[in-house]
Amino acid sequence: MLRSGVSRRWQESRPAHQEHIKAGRGAECHNAAMSPSTLSLTRPDDWHLHLRDGDALRAVLPHTARQFARAIAMPNLKPPVTTTALALDYRRRIVDALPKEGPGADFEPLMTLYLTDRTPPDEMCRAREAGIVALKLYPAGATTNSDAGVTDIRKTYATLEAMQREGLRLLVHGEVTDAEIDLFDREAVFIDRVLQPLRRDFPGLKIVFEHITTREAAMYVAAGDEQLAATITAHHLLFNRNAIFLGGLRPHYYCLPVLKREEHRLALVAAATSGSPKFFLGTDSAPHAAVLKEHAAACAGCYTALSALELYAQAFEAAGALDKLEGFASFHGADFYGLPRNTGRITLQRQPWVLPESLPFGAQQLKPLCGGETLNWQLIDEVVHEEPA
Ligand code: DOR
Ligand code: ZN
Repeated sequence: MLRSGVSRRWQESRPAHQEHIKAGRGAECHNAAMSPSTLSLTRPDDWHLHLRDGDALRAVLPHTARQFARAIAMPNLKPPVTTTALALDYRRRIVDALPKEGPGADFEPLMTLYLTDRTPPDEMCRAREAGIVALKLYPAGATTNSDAGVTDIRKTYATLEAMQREGLRLLVHGEVTDAEIDLFDREAVFIDRVLQPLRRDFPGLKIVFEHITTREAAMYVAAGDEQLAATITAHHLLFNRNAIFLGGLRPHYYCLPVLKREEHRLALVAAATSGSPKFFLGTDSAPHAAVLKEHAAACAGCYTALSALELYAQAFEAAGALDKLEGFASFHGADFYGLPRNTGRITLQRQPWVLPESLPFGAQQLKPLCGGETLNWQLIDEVVHEEPA
């Protein structure tokens, strides 16, 4: 049994404050009378995260480590993390960048390899023995640093066979890259052209359909077997594609896969709050220097790690489903990966606060998504003590 400073789960009820619904932001209603003022959760994990390297890594890592016990560290560095040796080096740099004590000191990065056309099948045994948990499939050209990605999935079949044998999971950026397919349709087309044949050919391979953005993907995952699951970001739960265009082009809302229509956002909210163990938290927090976001060719990625849980709490509360947040954030991912659930706890308080507009990012600046806006929930830093057995 663990104790946290604020241990009651659903404390006093209090009317929820009126939410200012902006265009581009979802508009569900919720039962105000059911809103608690304190939320205590088993410490969650982030199953999809971009930590970068060097100064950028040092700038962003404390934000994640303060909230999450573990996170999947995505391998799309420059150059990409394509071998076990590179992943172990990267792991060491992440661990070295952690706070030495206090919140986050015990954070555990979960390492992944970047799948290429030439990833050797015999690397899979080494990877598993070194504790690598998964490989990431980036279709070449689909997103940030994906140039070395897979040009044709059939070229990776011998490696996928070895992954299936070794119990390594496949994490999928699920978009086709064909120029003739409309950008907003690329995820749905990927299901038919790539994911369905892949699942047929590798029925024993555990696959995470990452950062799903469409109704089609949510339905496909919900209907799949227990080998298939999906992560959902906070920004895809909170915003639809209007957010990118309202009041001028807003590059901080640009990510890949791009935000979709409201009907898709609603399907994602329904999936995330359904209680299904096939859907879990993956922020896809992807920091880029502000100068590269506010640019003629803006980089794709939303920086949400600073306030990740608060953003998810906002989305779940808007859907009247705060009681489903713990499963989504703290249990389903660990269960899918076959890893133990965390034992510590974290506490969120209903305490409106304004997100900073800008953060230091090495010599540059980083602009968090929703910077300058007010969030309803705030994570409390507190030491979580283990009671004597
Ligand atoms: O928006 C995104 N940013 N999507 C991705 O798939 C990659 C990520 C990044 O690394 O910046
Ligand atoms: Zn990502």
